[in-house]
Amino acid sequence: MQSDSLLERRYRVLGRNSPLFYDKPLHLVRGEGVWLYDADGRRYLDAYNNVPHVGHCHPRVVEALSRQAATLNTHTRYLDENVVAYAERLTSLFDPQLSMAMLCCTGSEANELALRIARDCSGGSGVISTAWAYHGNTAAVMQVSSLFTPEDKRGPDVRTVPVMDPYRDRAGRSDEELATAYADDVKGAIDSFAAAGIRFAGLLFCTAFSSEGLPTVPAGFMTKALAHVHAAGGFFIADEVQAGFGRLGSHMWGHQKLGVVPDIVTLGKPMGNGHPLAGVVARRDLISAFAGRNMYFNTFGGNPVSAAVGTAVLDVLEDERLLENAVAVGAYTLDKLAALAQRHTLIGDVRGAGLFFAVELVSDRKAKTPAPAQTKRVVNLMRERGVLISRIGVHDNILKVRPPMPFSKQHADLLVDTLDEVLAAL
Ligand SMILES: Cc1ncc(COP(=O)(O)O)c(C=O)c1O
Repeated sequence: MQSDSLLERRYRVLGRNSPLFYDKPLHLVRGEGVWLYDADGRRYLDAYNNVPHVGHCHPRVVEALSRQAATLNTHTRYLDENVVAYAERLTSLFDPQLSMAMLCCTGSEANELALRIARDCSGGSGVISTAWAYHGNTAAVMQVSSLFTPEDKRGPDVRTVPVMDPYRDRAGRSDEELATAYADDVKGAIDSFAAAGIRFAGLLFCTAFSSEGLPTVPAGFMTKALAHVHAAGGFFIADEVQAGFGRLGSHMWGHQKLGVVPDIVTLGKPMGNGHPLAGVVARRDLISAFAGRNMYFNTFGGNPVSAAVGTAVLDVLEDERLLENAVAVGAYTLDKLAALAQRHTLIGDVRGAGLFFAVELVSDRKAKTPAPAQTKRVVNLMRERGVLISRIGVHDNILKVRPPMPFSKQHADLLVDTLDEVLAAL
């Protein structure tokens, strides 16, 4: 009852188009670790959220936040030991070429800034992203976010490359052949800028291709694509908003897993465990040149409270060995999901890395026919049974599973057993 009236109030004041998850929206009141609790006291396993990266309301993060908030918070134009120490520590987690940072508040701001740097330093304007990308909500970033922006609103400076889908595109080709074909798409987009007289500025990819459906990227793809980008005088912006901070387990950053060093990296969501902290880490020459020509100031971005929170997140990641956990529990979960695929023909493909999984649902395994209606139903039935997941992909037929990093094997058992029940009940 209470939740219904809250829903009506929300509709009235925030509008019906302000997005909400699930057919029956959740009214959450408390979180702890991988658990969320609704207004009726019901517990849900959070197998979706990457913002509470080290766990909902982690006591060390909460303590660091409240201690700094009770001591000092200012805008960002004063000297502060902890802010500088945080930026030093953050940049130390990257290849030595990526040695400078600019801090801001959201992933959208980080990508907006990255686009400005790439355009300013290349002297070009043309940007390539994928045909099913989401990078944020500012005017410039929206243009390279094809997921919500139709082609006629993207402007002349944007090209998209088709979403890679090795599950469907393989056609007997080796990884090497697929990687070359996908890199040729990037080359084609660069050439089309040249043909239109538009100077190329850069390529912006989420390093896990999350919205695109978490494809298993063929080895060597990014190296080949980057060679085309650099030969044309552009920069590679690696969007680590979803893939970063150890999500993929084996590496701190998705671009490391892809085997390349980007020119510019953008960070967000997990960086502040729910506190609005985001940033750009990039080559020293690029940030220096850009900042020398353009005044950039961000009132809240990387303030003392944000730095305290960001530091605590890195401490917990290290002390609780959460990357190692992602590798071990990730492999365990993938195995269990693969075993589930033996029993349910609706599952066409299972893939992922670390604690990021995609379960692709198809109505015909041979034809790989997407099953979007069943996918939506599964997500809602999982929620009814107390496990939170979502869906992604060009065909809207991929279950997206991306839990907070302290996810354990017991949590994985609950996730997979519940999915088993839901698939059996469809
Ligand atoms: C890959 C990626 N980049 C950027 C963003 C934008 O981040 P924010 O919502 O913090 O502006 C998102 C948000 O979903 C994202 O998934």
